[in-house]
Formats: sequence, C-alpha cells, structure tokens
Amino acid sequence: MGKIKRAQELAKAEAEAAERARAAQAAARTDLRDQRDYPMRLQKFLARAGVASRRGSESLISAGRVEVNGLTVTELGTKVDPLNDEVMVDGRVVEWGSKPVVLALNKPAGIITTMKDYSGRRCVADIMPTDEFPGLFPIGRLDIDTTGLLLFSTDGELGNHLLHPRHHVTKVYRATVWGDVGEVALSWLAEGVLIDDRLTAPAKVKVVKRLGGKTILELAIHEGRYHQVKRMCEEVGHRVEQLERIAFGPVELGGLPRGSWRVLEGRELEELYHAAGLPTPDEASQAGPGAARSNARMGETQGATDAPGRKIEQ
Ligand code: URA
Repeated sequence: MGKIKRAQELAKAEAEAAERARAAQAAARTDLRDQRDYPMRLQKFLARAGVASRRGSESLISAGRVEVNGLTVTELGTKVDPLNDEVMVDGRVVEWGSKPVVLALNKPAGIITTMKDYSGRRCVADIMPTDEFPGLFPIGRLDIDTTGLLLFSTDGELGNHLLHPRHHVTKVYRATVWGDVGEVALSWLAEGVLIDDRLTAPAKVKVVKRLGGKTILELAIHEGRYHQVKRMCEEVGHRVEQLERIAFGPVELGGLPRGSWRVLEGRELEELYHAAGLPTPDEASQAGPGAARSNARMGETQGATDAPGRKIEQ
C-alpha cells in the first residue's frame, strides 16, 4: 500500500474514532437528561461523585470550600452541569462519575434485602438514597427479620471480594436465643456444626448476657451460608429469637440509628477495601492506569455476587 493511501486510511480511522467519542458523550448527556439529573444540584453532584454524603456536601458548600468554574459557591440550590462545569473541593477537581461509594445501613426488621420487589413488599431500595447513588446494591443479604449493618456499594468488585469466602471477612452477629446456652453448645458453635452435611468454619462465640430463659450471644463468623447463624444456633438446640449484625469486617454498626444510612469515608473505607484484599479507588488511581481495577457496578456483577449453586447470605 502506498504512503498516501495509508495516511488517508489513518485519517479516516481517526475521524471515525472522534465521531464515536462525540456520540458517546452525547449519549451520556441524553442519559443524564432522561434521568432528570441535568443540570444537577451541587450537593447531589458532590454526593454522587463520592465526595461526601448529601448532608456532608451541604456543609462543604456552606463552609465555602466548593468552587464551580473558579467561583466559590455557598448557595445550596446551585445547579451544575456534571459534564461541562468544573467543580473543585478544597482546590481539587472532583471527577464526575468515577468514584465508587460505600454506604452502611442499619436495616430495620420487616424489609427485604432486594432493590426491587415485584410483589410490592417493602425493600431496602425504599430507604436507600438510590437517586443520589445510582447503581447502589446491597453487599450480601440479611433476612427480613434480621436488623443491623448492611453495606451497599456501587463497586461490584468490592462486593464480590467482601462476600468471597477466600477473603475471610468477619461478620459479627448478636443473637438472642431461647434457652440457657451451656458450655457444650458454645464449644460446638465455636468448633463447627453440621449444616447441609458440611461443618461450619470455626467461629468466635461468647455469651453477652444471660436473661433467664434466653441468652444473648455474640458470634463472629466469616462464612456467609444461607440462614447461617439461625441454623447454627438451632443445630445446638437454641432457636434464634432476634438477630442483629453489628459489624462487617472493620465497619461497625455503632450508634447509627435504625433505618438510617451513612457514607463510609477515610480510614474506615480504606480498611474495608484492604479487608477485601483490594486497593481503595484512590490508591488504584494513584498507582496508575495499569494498576487500576475494573470498576464494574454491582448491578452488572450480581450474578457473581450471588453465584449460581451457592446461596450467599451475609
Ligand atoms: N444468618 C442468618 O441466619 N440470618 C441473617 O440474616 C444473617 C445471618
């Protein structure tokens, strides 16, 4: 092929690539308009970019720490165009749509762990800020009557890692069980009981309180088998009356009110990613594009999270 012909083909390929990029950007804008998110309130933009919760973002704006196109904005209703405006917090540009988020919910009883229920039952999507954080998915499940800590993320890889038995991420449950739990039952729970013909992995178990007729136990397990805690306790003769999850890896439920959620930040977020054997998104981007993880959304990887043939419940 002659030199001129090759140059012409190269120019044509470049023009086609530029056209595809323009079309993709136009499609992204249309998507945003379709979701009625365009333009978007500044605090929503900051929350969706993973800077802080919506309330945290409002404080940042009120404190004069946010600039839009070079001008400090303190008015909360200010609207921004996520694709064309430059937003900075403390002098650093906020990258739109690039940063995954992790949220912790104190799940109340009576709602199911799914983002949609076709029979109209109350589900976690009803109490989570799904418009602020599109693509949010629960990491594992809690039974309808189980309360406590349920993590959500837009980061599919994080979800998969946290649930994978290989990473041994500890979940701590507080179970109120019927009866007075004796030493033998405690050691069985700790050493392993048979569920579906397979021994549970060693667990840490302690008595928190004896109530006379009931016992409050704390169980730290790292597996996530179907109804695991209830079945373990039942196996040793003590039916669970109430179950609450109080920790997931390094994240603790703490004083988060029932039905409320919070955005994980700073040290806690870092520790969670590390417990999952992953770098944080900031660490991954600092390590350069070659080291960056794929940032699949949970919705696209649900199949892997709830792997076929294996019922996962955390
Ligand atoms: N184990 C259970 O039995 N139920 C839950 O909801 C979580 C763990």
